[in-house]
Amino acid sequence: MSGSNRISRRDFIKVTTGAIGGVITAVIGIPVVGYLIDPALRENKAGAPMAIGKLENIPVGVPFPFSFTITKVNGWEKTASSFGGYILRKSEAPKDIVVLSSRCTHLSCRVNWKEELKEFVCPCHDASFDLDGKVLGGPPPEPLGHFEYEVAADGTITIIPVEVKEG
Ligand code: FES
Repeated sequence: MSGSNRISRRDFIKVTTGAIGGVITAVIGIPVVGYLIDPALRENKAGAPMAIGKLENIPVGVPFPFSFTITKVNGWEKTASSFGGYILRKSEAPKDIVVLSSRCTHLSCRVNWKEELKEFVCPCHDASFDLDGKVLGGPPPEPLGHFEYEVAADGTITIIPVEVKEG
């Protein structure tokens, strides 16, 4: 009655216990490993299109400020950087706009629109730029950069948040 192909009670318990242990390890282990790896695999959202305003809220002829933050994830390191610019509607035509960056092309300070001067002014080294971003004075080597944009049918303005240099 010993049958060599029969499994003993002891072996059966060993195999069953091992299988249950394996299932428990997988149930607990897979989410933990996923949690540990996940930050390194997360996609960097920099460069995704971003809505910055509605046409109906932006006056014609006056630079309208906007800002946004881009968070980059590099492994465990998360870096948030803020950016900004100005939307300039040149006329009532929906696509007659320029979206300028507010980053000074000298050493990257933020420029501000001064309505009384009708100029963008950089507070760091007293530079000035005209309404189209061209350098009027100071050390900046080139005009303000701009962003490529789209205007949706409902008037939402969306930019690709990657600065494009003039010229
Ligand atoms: S950073 Fe703007 S003039 Fe120097």
